[in-house]
Amino acid sequence: MADDLTTPPRQSRLEGIIPEEEITRSENRWVVVMLAMLAVMMAIIVVTGVTHALNPPSNVETIDPATLHLGGEFAESNLGTAAESDGSMTVRIVGEQYAFVPDCTQVQVDTPVKFRLTSTDVVHGFLLPGTNVNTMVVPGFVAEVRTSFSRPGIYRMPCNEFCGDGHHGMWARVKVVPKQEFPKLAADERISCAKQ
Ligand code: CUA
Repeated sequence: MADDLTTPPRQSRLEGIIPEEEITRSENRWVVVMLAMLAVMMAIIVVTGVTHALNPPSNVETIDPATLHLGGEFAESNLGTAAESDGSMTVRIVGEQYAFVPDCTQVQVDTPVKFRLTSTDVVHGFLLPGTNVNTMVVPGFVAEVRTSFSRPGIYRMPCNEFCGDGHHGMWARVKVVPKQEFPKLAADERISCAKQ
């Protein structure tokens, strides 16, 4: 292929003209090369996205930000980590200027975890470094992200959407504890890491 581009047939070079069909053939080859590269890049994106669950959150679920604290799923008594009957966990967090409530939640390692978040005021961002968790928290909507933590430890979560003067101080934590420790935690420890 390189030969065709750099050394056209002697005849046409002498005349200063490259035959039309040869140009077309060369261009077609490059189109094939570009399409092949595009296909490889798309395949890499799709395969890594599927195998690492790197997909954009697409949960369209609405909630009234003015009344969510009064009752229902995001009432204060219902926030934090809840163990589900199927063995998974659900963590409910409310973002507001300038804190996540609760500011530290505990979950169990190697367990499916579903985060459900909403905001009472402006758009915040919820990001857990080193995981697939990264979502906007938009008032009026419930953001839902699923993940599983393979290592115990503390994950610090910064608000990663500019939300006002106190944005830089809006941090919270997720503490991932070993399996044998979690059931021993008292209910109030599941919305706090204070006793740890
Ligand atoms: Cu909340 Cu930035």
